[in-house]
Amino acid sequence: EKGGYEHFMLKEIHEQPKSIMDTMRGRLLVEEGIIQMAGIWDYQEKFLNAERIIIISCGTSWHAGLVGEYLIEDLARIPVEVEYASEFRYRNPIITDKDIVIAISQSGETADSLAALKLAKEKGAFIYGICNVVDSSIARLTDAGSYTHAGPEIGVASTKAFTAQLAVLSMIAIKLAKHKGTISKEKFNSLITELDSIPDKIEKLIKSTEEQIKKISLQYENVHNFLYLGRGYNYPIALEGALKLKEISYIHAEGYPAAEMKHGPIALIDENMPVVVIAPRTEHYEKIVSNIQEINSRKGKVIAIVTEGDIQVKNMVAEAIEIPDVSECFSPILASIPLQLLAYYIAILRGVNVDQPRNLAKSVTVE
Ligand code: F6R
Repeated sequence: EKGGYEHFMLKEIHEQPKSIMDTMRGRLLVEEGIIQMAGIWDYQEKFLNAERIIIISCGTSWHAGLVGEYLIEDLARIPVEVEYASEFRYRNPIITDKDIVIAISQSGETADSLAALKLAKEKGAFIYGICNVVDSSIARLTDAGSYTHAGPEIGVASTKAFTAQLAVLSMIAIKLAKHKGTISKEKFNSLITELDSIPDKIEKLIKSTEEQIKKISLQYENVHNFLYLGRGYNYPIALEGALKLKEISYIHAEGYPAAEMKHGPIALIDENMPVVVIAPRTEHYEKIVSNIQEINSRKGKVIAIVTEGDIQVKNMVAEAIEIPDVSECFSPILASIPLQLLAYYIAILRGVNVDQPRNLAKSVTVE
């Protein structure tokens, strides 16, 4: 059932070209030049008139929500707030019938997410679900939704469900942008063509980097701390990379927006601190380069995620892992993959049962 892989997690990492294709099947119609999503289409007026969108979720799904905020605000120009379900529900939040509340949940059973959504519904918000498990509690409660269709995820650490959430959020953002008129027809077409190419790019990325990542992990098996930095669309991926490492290798890791480094975490950097920097060639490239310089001058060891063909960052760092060149809005999907592999291979060296790390459950149905 593990399809020849040693663990479900590794199988699920490798499945991502296919799972994302399944997520987009019948929805992303490049030839016709449309994105078909019944959940959005049927409630188009609600989405187009929404004063804001509030995304609620927990853990990895919350990180997907943060990427969703960048996507929806950047492309569709609708204000988005992203909330931990557990904080949202207990602070007497302001919700009106002009709000759309989106819950993101792999299992569809997370107790805090479910309760937060019930609260939003009581207050009159339109509630939308992005779940992986069909007919789960959250999926049944919502007014509408889009399943991620990533297939069953068995490994406790979420991998393919996360990238499927990013694919659904990308489609929603691009579709809303088209209907709102916040992007041109040309931009719409180029975005959907590019999104359609993502599964192939992931396939290629895994092939070209897995051996390299295995080797890199040998050097970091015994460290006690890791820092992950990213900017813009990849700030949430820094958080997600750190969470993956923490939960399956039991190494302490922190994710930060790169610019926040100088407001505190920089004090931690010395020759024993590995820093994973997500540094694809995007709008923030020069800023990330100066963050790397700051780390170098304190002797921190940088593992950088860079765009294929990058020279500048590559020449500055201990390790550079190349990802295919894509628009910034899709770079989180690609950048997540090497970070999943890095966490996996470090955890394996440390002898952890990665499919069932200690103290963790696949779905958190208690508060
Ligand atoms: C981390 C992980 C958890 C879940 C969180 C929410 O790898 O799996 O952080 O993302 O418990 O679960 P769902 O998405 O089922 O609501």
